[in-house]
Amino acid sequence: MLYRNFLKPIFFRMDPEQAHHTVMGGLATAAKIPGALSIMKGLYGVQEDPMLATDLFGLHFHSPIGLAAGLDKNAEAVKGLSSVGFGFLEVGTVTPVGQPGNEKPRMFRLPEDDALINRMGFNNKGADAMLTRLSQLKQHTVPIWVNIGKNKVTPNEAAHEDYLSCIRKLYPVADLFVVNISSPNTPNLRNLQHGEELRQLLGQIVQEMKLQNEAVGRNKAVLVKIAPDVTEEELAHMTETIVESGVSGIIATNTTLSRMGTTNQNRLESGGLSGKPLTIRSAEVIRQVYQYTDGKIPIIGSGGVFTAEDAYAQICAGASLVEIYTSFIYQGPDVTRELAKGLKQLLQRDGYQHISEAVGRDHRR
Ligand SMILES: Cc1cc2nc3c(=O)[nH]c(=O)nc-3n(C[C@H](O)[C@H](O)[C@H](O)COP(=O)(O)O)c2cc1C
Repeated sequence: MLYRNFLKPIFFRMDPEQAHHTVMGGLATAAKIPGALSIMKGLYGVQEDPMLATDLFGLHFHSPIGLAAGLDKNAEAVKGLSSVGFGFLEVGTVTPVGQPGNEKPRMFRLPEDDALINRMGFNNKGADAMLTRLSQLKQHTVPIWVNIGKNKVTPNEAAHEDYLSCIRKLYPVADLFVVNISSPNTPNLRNLQHGEELRQLLGQIVQEMKLQNEAVGRNKAVLVKIAPDVTEEELAHMTETIVESGVSGIIATNTTLSRMGTTNQNRLESGGLSGKPLTIRSAEVIRQVYQYTDGKIPIIGSGGVFTAEDAYAQICAGASLVEIYTSFIYQGPDVTRELAKGLKQLLQRDGYQHISEAVGRDHRR
């Protein structure tokens, strides 16, 4: 209510990136004010519910709704974001060296379409800055996933060095890693999703994770985030390679280059489209990945989740957890609680005791 009626009209009058910095700055400041986090938790927090709490990748998720990558690229508002009901936070994309990203403007709203277009280009302060930030946390109240990418200047032939360097540096402070090879805004990055390039890259990443895990006796997971702009045949090959590599899971999907279902004039801007126009496509990719992998590898849903029905559709298609970005911008912090509450009602309606029973339900009917 507070967000939708008062804050959103103010933010939506601002330039989108300026509004973004204002929100992130506000969340970071709130964490320094005594008692503010407890108030935010009271207003927006999501209580653990036995129907929704999930254990996966050796981690505990009090809610299956997490924050997708890109909102907190530098892990600057982790405490604030941990207080507004997310079951996990995916920070990044972080690259080994900080970089400015693309020229501004590079983020656009499409309000009639409940969508955003961005061509940020991995603007971030680099792995050292993220290490400093995450090292300052005394505890993780929700699991912190670190989404890693390659610097723009790094050629694809050397991309593995960037991913490995991020893992080596950030391993002590990350609960899980996400390999981002699906952003449309770093030239040629998406080529890493296919064929021999994918096989070699994932092989080296899984090997590095093994070394790191063995050194400390842990079993931290690494996931791969994929694009929605792939043919069925490409997806079949990709999933086969991903499963063979030993990676622990797949995030489906990143933003799309398609403009299908959009009307706002900003549809002409280049970049990745997120939000409602992605809802059906993301669920479809999740369904196909589940089918190609026989449900053997956990899938995390991402793309156009605005309502509990959207989240439930992704779960029934095969997702074990779901993450959001654009609906958080349009609906504000109430959205985490609304999604959790609605999901529980849908599970009860269909006679389930626990969310895990509904994962992949579409494939059993
Ligand atoms: C402004 C913006 C920046 C993003 N930056 C990243 C990023 O750095 N890394 C990444 O993997 N995904 C990034 N994403 C994609 C989101 O994590 C998410 O996968 C996508 O937006 C689909 O979910 P949504 O429809 O809930 O927004 C970004 C999305 C937006 C809107």
